[in-house]
Amino acid sequence: MNKICKIFIDDKLYEFEVKGDFFWGEDKLLFNVKDSVISKMIWRDKGYGIVNTFIKDEFFKLKSSVKDNIIKAIELSNIDFNKSTFTLDKYHEIVDTDLKHNKVIDVTRNLENTDFDFDIEVLAKRVGNILGYKLTSWVEELQKSHIQIRISRPNSLDINPPHRDGYLSFWEDIINVWIPIEGCNENSSLPVFSGSHLINESDILRTKSKGAEINGNVYNVPCIIETKDEDIKMVRPNPKEGEILIFTPFLIHGAGVNKNKNITRVSLELRFPRINN
Ligand SMILES: [Fe+2]
Repeated sequence: MNKICKIFIDDKLYEFEVKGDFFWGEDKLLFNVKDSVISKMIWRDKGYGIVNTFIKDEFFKLKSSVKDNIIKAIELSNIDFNKSTFTLDKYHEIVDTDLKHNKVIDVTRNLENTDFDFDIEVLAKRVGNILGYKLTSWVEELQKSHIQIRISRPNSLDINPPHRDGYLSFWEDIINVWIPIEGCNENSSLPVFSGSHLINESDILRTKSKGAEINGNVYNVPCIIETKDEDIKMVRPNPKEGEILIFTPFLIHGAGVNKNKNITRVSLELRFPRINN
């Protein structure tokens, strides 16, 4: 069934077509109000916060490692380009077709700590200190760490549908970390639906995992197309360079359309599970 996903981002309406089988959930709240990694935060009812975790030039080291990974992915995709003049914001001028882009993101969607010249585990510890829980970058169920570079070209549908990562069992007890790397601003930063982690499943119309298709791309996470009684109203918290956005995996997020005219947006997604002692 094709449905139009209607969302508001900073009060502006966006619509796009999603193909999939949609259903309303059971009468159940999946977010654990009493015991989640955001329980101790004053922003726990909003479901997200912006924090500082980088020390000195660490952010720039991470950014340069992201760039190296993207260059490697372009090379692996056999795309002709000049490595020495390549900049992330002009990625779309080099990777100029959907076919080429899909090859690149096949590589950049599935990275691990070892691909980065930066100790991601240190970030997990620092975020854990802020939240007051022990966190790690190791995902036991997957037997690996998980890092994904998100690349969104200008004027494209390089987006996720609105979704909750927490629907997937291995992302139930984690904190989501979103780091702006390049071209992230009020026109492109990741949108979140404030307070949506507190929405009961019976008020959510969604697909199963791998059950939604936008513009020919199938998404791993279930797509949320509608919430009962209210519109999906998202905001872009827009963390600045060097800051990070953290949120509960039950917060509805995604649909990060890049409205910048000529700048590719690059961000980094990390997920830190809680260590249960
Ligand atoms: Fe997500």
